[in-house]
Amino acid sequence: MLSWQQIKGDFPLLINKGKNLIFLDNAATTQKPKQVIDAIVDYYTNWNSNVRRGIYRLSEEATDHYEKSRENISNFIGSSDPRQLAFVRNTTEALNLLAYSMGHNLHEGDEILLTIMEHHSNIVPWQFLQEKGVKLKFADINEDGTLDMEDFRNKLTRKTKVVSVTHCSNLLGTINDAAELAKLAHDNGSLFILDGAQSVPHMPVDVEKLDCDFLAFSGHKMLGPMGIGVLYGKYDLLNGLPPFNGGGEMISQVYTDHSTYADAPEKFEAGTPNVEGAIGLSAAVDYLRNIGMDEVRSHEKDLISYTLKKEEEHHIDILKSYGPRDMEKRGGIYTFNLGEFNPLSMSEGLINEQIRVGSNVHPHDVATGLDSSNVAVRAGHHCAMPLTHRLNVVATSRASYYIYNSREDVDLLFESLEKIRRLYA
Ligand SMILES: Cc1ncc(COP(=O)(O)O)c(C=O)c1O
Repeated sequence: MLSWQQIKGDFPLLINKGKNLIFLDNAATTQKPKQVIDAIVDYYTNWNSNVRRGIYRLSEEATDHYEKSRENISNFIGSSDPRQLAFVRNTTEALNLLAYSMGHNLHEGDEILLTIMEHHSNIVPWQFLQEKGVKLKFADINEDGTLDMEDFRNKLTRKTKVVSVTHCSNLLGTINDAAELAKLAHDNGSLFILDGAQSVPHMPVDVEKLDCDFLAFSGHKMLGPMGIGVLYGKYDLLNGLPPFNGGGEMISQVYTDHSTYADAPEKFEAGTPNVEGAIGLSAAVDYLRNIGMDEVRSHEKDLISYTLKKEEEHHIDILKSYGPRDMEKRGGIYTFNLGEFNPLSMSEGLINEQIRVGSNVHPHDVATGLDSSNVAVRAGHHCAMPLTHRLNVVATSRASYYIYNSREDVDLLFESLEKIRRLYA
């Protein structure tokens, strides 16, 4: 098992806050180790200049650092060719890029198959295509929070041009069988996109083994800086897409009436790129590789199974949690409510009655209560409103783990939840 104390010692913010912060909001963003912060400082101290355009040595060195970062991150996700990886701002931008660029070749009647557990960033960009008559379909979930494969198969039709699915749900923690979904999509002649925002940071992900056509993920959710993300695509598919943003560095020739474009990945990196971000993310990848992604996964598996054990032990009468109980299908995400908190209970008369009898504590009150015990969790719809509606709740609270969390953090979470329950009794 990981020596979490040693790991925690690498994170200046966690050291500075000490016992005043139990950070359980890692699905939103993670803290940064000093190795990542140092790499960024080193870049600005020693290498800063614009990339790709300078003929002088400093610019060549900066370009070299930038391209080596691409190579390193490409290796990390099992891609054999760094040209298959374009730097973007985040998962959201990667998915917008795909929807926009693929949209050129989608027509009225074509279908996109998603799942009901998608983050808004894998729903809204596709909705833009509805204007063209493109139809969105959503595969449902089973009662245990896993993907309903029968529904998925039924909704995959000969009109399905694109299947875009999250690898791990940011609300339920459900890990989808990406290899199986990719195979089903490919057998159907559909393109397969994987949203890796909650998987690449937490488990080994190998794009070639999974056979995904495209993969999107964010640096800031895996110890890297904000403002850097990755779009991976099989080279011919990526290179075959029309560009998203136009401007410097993404072109081959520009005339007053038209332009020709550079090949991927430059085609998708218009303007000055986030060099600092790429270098910081590469340092984050080194840090994670050093621990080992199998280790990261087993640490989080331990934390989530310990959480479910604690849940049983504490037996808080009004606590209801969501997501698969099978640890093989579950990431380090624990989403719960104190009370049902469904839309019906929100109607005014009922809510007052339920607060009075203490059977419903609003997730925002749960999060505020936990914060007063120095436990930081997220509360709300977690940018997954369709899933929140599907679960028949208005909102939930979510604890999400990472490498620096420990069983002691879980203990404190439950002690604090008990306190909140007593307060509302
Ligand atoms: C599953 C999933 N997809 C996409 C995103 C969007 O990530 P970003 O905000 O970094 O673009 C998130 C963020 O929480 C997520 O959890």
